[in-house]
Amino acid sequence: MSDPKTILITGATRGLGKALAVRFAAEGHTIIGCGRDQNALESLRDELGPRHLFDAVDVVDDDAVAGWAAKVIAEKGAPDILLNNAALINKRAPLWEVPADEMSKVVDVNIKGVVNVIRHFTPAMIERGSGVILNLSSGWGQFGAPEVAPYCATKFAIEGMTQAMAQELPKGMAAIPLSPGIIHTEMLDQAFGEAASQHWTPEDWIEVAAPFILGLGPEQNGESIRIPDA
Ligand SMILES: NC(=O)c1ccc[n+]([C@@H]2O[C@H](COP(=O)([O-])OP(=O)(O)OC[C@H]3O[C@@H](n4cnc5c(N)ncnc54)[C@H](OP(=O)(O)O)[C@@H]3O)[C@@H](O)[C@H]2O)c1
Repeated sequence: MSDPKTILITGATRGLGKALAVRFAAEGHTIIGCGRDQNALESLRDELGPRHLFDAVDVVDDDAVAGWAAKVIAEKGAPDILLNNAALINKRAPLWEVPADEMSKVVDVNIKGVVNVIRHFTPAMIERGSGVILNLSSGWGQFGAPEVAPYCATKFAIEGMTQAMAQELPKGMAAIPLSPGIIHTEMLDQAFGEAASQHWTPEDWIEVAAPFILGLGPEQNGESIRIPDA
């Protein structure tokens, strides 16, 4: 096992975030997780034990993220790895049929939520002089696809924003746009419908993804990376 790390994961209540939390905790790392689903957070606390922190935080709420960061940093210090994983996808529709409030929600969670978490956790990582920030991107952050234009727009934004941030960080740190591959989660059900079940389960994905993620560091700063084979 690698040295025990403190790993922060937004959107740890299901899908890839939960798979990462469960695997990294089993490997001896300390998990800081958030999401909005109280029952799922309670189950994670029961399953993984008191060494980890799972809090109800909506990443869109900058004040809530600020309070969460102050508490987490006081108790556990700055994270070694910050995984900005929480995201939404729009209900499939041509762009001109996407309601204004849905467009706002996708932008608020997928872009502004990521920035809120970066705003409140990164200064402590910079002060310590180490840490890796992984912002979950997508193939749809590299090329467009019909009926998911709002989601594509936010994942293109993740790529640009993360490349820019990579040039702002001090030496020894990294910001990396990370595409996980295609995995059968609730988000994929929404995006692909029945075809979603042909893809990897989070349990299969984690076998490749967990060691790969732990291997990312300053050498990959600013590189757009995809989990191999997924
Ligand atoms: N699955 C894929 O094939 C795939 C492909 C490319 C990229 N990705 C990216 O990988 C990441 C994880 O995707 P997934 O498939 O695991 O999605 P998912 O199953 O839909 O899970 C999304 C997670 O985000 C959390 N979340 C959503 N809004 C939130 C908010 N406002 N505040 C806090 N947490 C919030 C959800 O928790 P609550 O509901 O409890 O808040 C949930 O835990 C996303 O960034 C996604 O864009 C996935």
